[in-house]
Amino acid sequence: MAAPVVDAGYLKEVDKARRDLRALIASKNCAPVMLRLAWHDAGTYDVKTKTGGPNGSIRNEEEHKHGANAGLKIAIDLCETVKAKHPRITYADLYQLAGVVAVEVTGGPTIDFVPGRRDSLVSPKEGRLPDAKQGSAHLRDVFYRMGLSDKDIVALSGGHTLGRAHPERSGFDGPWTNEPLKFDNSYFVELLEGEKEGLLKLPTDKVLVEDPEFRGYVELFAKDEDAFFKDYAESHKKLSELGFTSPKSASKSDAHTSILLAQSAVGVAVAAAVVFLSYCYEVSRRSK
Ligand code: HEM
Repeated sequence: MAAPVVDAGYLKEVDKARRDLRALIASKNCAPVMLRLAWHDAGTYDVKTKTGGPNGSIRNEEEHKHGANAGLKIAIDLCETVKAKHPRITYADLYQLAGVVAVEVTGGPTIDFVPGRRDSLVSPKEGRLPDAKQGSAHLRDVFYRMGLSDKDIVALSGGHTLGRAHPERSGFDGPWTNEPLKFDNSYFVELLEGEKEGLLKLPTDKVLVEDPEFRGYVELFAKDEDAFFKDYAESHKKLSELGFTSPKSASKSDAHTSILLAQSAVGVAVAAAVVFLSYCYEVSRRSK
């Protein structure tokens, strides 16, 4: 599908949708499932084939029925109420905006949001999202396929500071932290403190303290929340823009092209003036 035209009208709608999402998320306490929706729409990206990614395709029944997406129809339907009010906004933008707002309203860092994602109706084959029962090699396979790094894996896993697992959706049960509606660094603090009654650690969470590369980041984020917020905001932005060239950078390159063209035009004009003046000089010299 065509990319949306991000003009002043589109930006205004994005602003209004942001406000509607804030109110919706606050009134329904649905920040966790909204963040999970944004992540699962984006997390199918394959950097080699440039397929999947944050393109709204998770709204297709075929895709949201994938086992890994169990429960996300709730978030898709909640977003539909905002889409109905702001139909110009693409689903791809709306789901990523919902993820950004979910982090913001629960006390997390501000994440830069650049609109302009195009929608797709092509869903990737099932199996691109991580399997919680596997280990660090699998996590790296999945996140490297997206073009993300070890630091991104650990920072983004911090998204589990929000929400909980539901047995009927994933087979796992319970929250990761004592305050699952607060975005902070407690996920990492709990990871280092080990098993605790009532708190969940998926196998893919546990490997973050077992793998030495990952563990360095866990220790940093557990002791320094500012470092976590900074890295999380960067990694989340990367995730939300996989395969997306923002109109901002496109217009930056347009501006660069215009400058080059203007410089060339000035060059041609100067050269023409020199030729013309030389000609005038020659004519006046001969007529003397
Ligand atoms: C690293 C690989 C990951 C695995 C294997 C994984 C797996 C899971 C599983 C099994 C659940 C429970 C689902 C349910 O029963 O409702 C879950 C929930 C959740 N995940 Fe992840 N996840 C991963 C990464 C992420 C990332 C990168 C984010 C966001 C940046 C994220 C955000 C969430 C949130 C917010 C929930 C709670 C949803 C709710 O309360 O409804 N996860 N994840």
